[in-house]
Amino acid sequence: MNTAGFETADEKSRGAINIRNVTKVYDPDGACVLAVDNCSMDISAGEFCVVVGPSGCGKTTLLNAIAGFHGISGGEIYLDGELLCTSERMPKPGSDRIVVFQNGALFPWFTVLENVTFGPVMQGVMAKKDAEDKALHMMGQMGLQGISMNYPSEISSGMRRRVEIARALMNNPRVLLLDEPFRAMDALTKTVVHQFLLNVYDEYKTTIFFITHDLDEAIFLGSKVYIMTTRPATIKKILEVTIPRPRDFRILASPEYQRLRDECISAVHEEAVKAFKAGEREM
Ligand SMILES: Nc1ncnc2c1ncn2[C@@H]1O[C@H](COP(=O)(O)OP(=O)(O)OP(=O)(O)O)[C@@H](O)[C@H]1O
Ligand SMILES: [Mg+2]
Repeated sequence: MNTAGFETADEKSRGAINIRNVTKVYDPDGACVLAVDNCSMDISAGEFCVVVGPSGCGKTTLLNAIAGFHGISGGEIYLDGELLCTSERMPKPGSDRIVVFQNGALFPWFTVLENVTFGPVMQGVMAKKDAEDKALHMMGQMGLQGISMNYPSEISSGMRRRVEIARALMNNPRVLLLDEPFRAMDALTKTVVHQFLLNVYDEYKTTIFFITHDLDEAIFLGSKVYIMTTRPATIKKILEVTIPRPRDFRILASPEYQRLRDECISAVHEEAVKAFKAGEREM
């Protein structure tokens, strides 16, 4: 434990995030947009944390602060008990926190296998052969067999997204930050991709901070679902997803899943209505 009482990296696994009373104000030309207000979250090491909430409520703002892309206006963020940032201290991006965006980028001139092994080989953390063995194992778990010698332009967008996640995990980050990674996918592809993501999560137990608008995705994947209020973002409700792992599509028919889904829909709907009314007032 550190002095603030949070888990440190040498205890249990890695990747605990503590967000303490975080506030974020954007000030474009004095407009002062309060995006996040006094928001606190305690994400355990190895947790699959899913964040849902109305559009524009501040989800990406929080993710960017954890990633070290921008500062915060108040509060603190800790990673494994170490202070990551305060209003006075800008966070720094680091290879311990890897972001996979909606429109991620693979090196087009590298094969899939070269893309996935690039990080650890380039940093000298793994020998090329070891990296390739690990990459091929992980790609197998993610349904990416048989495409290792293809170039990114030769595979589907759903495959590219999985390659990006495999590439991120090869770097053994403390936290994987995913901002609506599957938003553009059709529902059928998503169900398959979710299963592949769970396969690697079940093996590596990397802490995942996952933003989505898809409530089914949230419950199917998450250990906890953090429901945010309309802007300025704070936590409205935390749903503990008690459905055991490993999970497969059959849980979608379980009464527990339906109960969690109903609870999630009610909370999100309430906030969506507030966001809509606020939008009407501003028009
Ligand atoms: N760089 C910026 N400058 C000024 N305002 C910003 C900036 N980035 C975000 N905002 C505002 O902060 C609020 C929160 O934005 P954010 O992108 O975090 O929301 P979000 O919850 O991720 O939304 P979505 O679900 O649509 O992706 C919004 O009102 C947005 O307009
Ligand atoms: Mg966003």
